[in-house]
Amino acid sequence: MKTKLHPTQNNLGEKTRRAVIELLNQNLADVLDLGLQAKQAHWNVKGPHFIGLHELFDKVAEEVEGFTDDIAERAVELGGVALGTAPIISKQSRLAAYPLDLVSGKEHVTALSRALAKFGASARAAIDAAAKLSDADTADLFTEVSRGVDKLLWMVEAHLHAKD
Ligand SMILES: [Fe+2]
Repeated sequence: MKTKLHPTQNNLGEKTRRAVIELLNQNLADVLDLGLQAKQAHWNVKGPHFIGLHELFDKVAEEVEGFTDDIAERAVELGGVALGTAPIISKQSRLAAYPLDLVSGKEHVTALSRALAKFGASARAAIDAAAKLSDADTADLFTEVSRGVDKLLWMVEAHLHAKD
């Protein structure tokens, strides 16, 4: 079904805007899921590294929320509708479901690293997809998101590289 775009004086062509809105909404479902997964880790982690990981996972959730807003608002800027409700996240997210039985820091670090890496890869792919659609601004947006996610992945993943 071809949805109607909201009118805008933005001079990107309608065909480009439609394709980019779709790209943005797919990544919106993924990034919303990622933010919820970071909160799930923040709430449930236990063990000797509790406080550091509890705070780090919250920082991940906060930064991811910033990316989420940028992605959603760009879809609307281009005349689209940002699709960010719970049923859509659950239907569209390409991230693996976050396991509900994790306890230790290592388990949560492993699961959240996997989610960050998966979303990081899709944000990186979206840079090229947006560039191919001749939308340099969305490519730039995803470049910023991708760089930020790489940094978060480093901060989370670093916990797996020590002996304890
Ligand atoms: Fe909290």
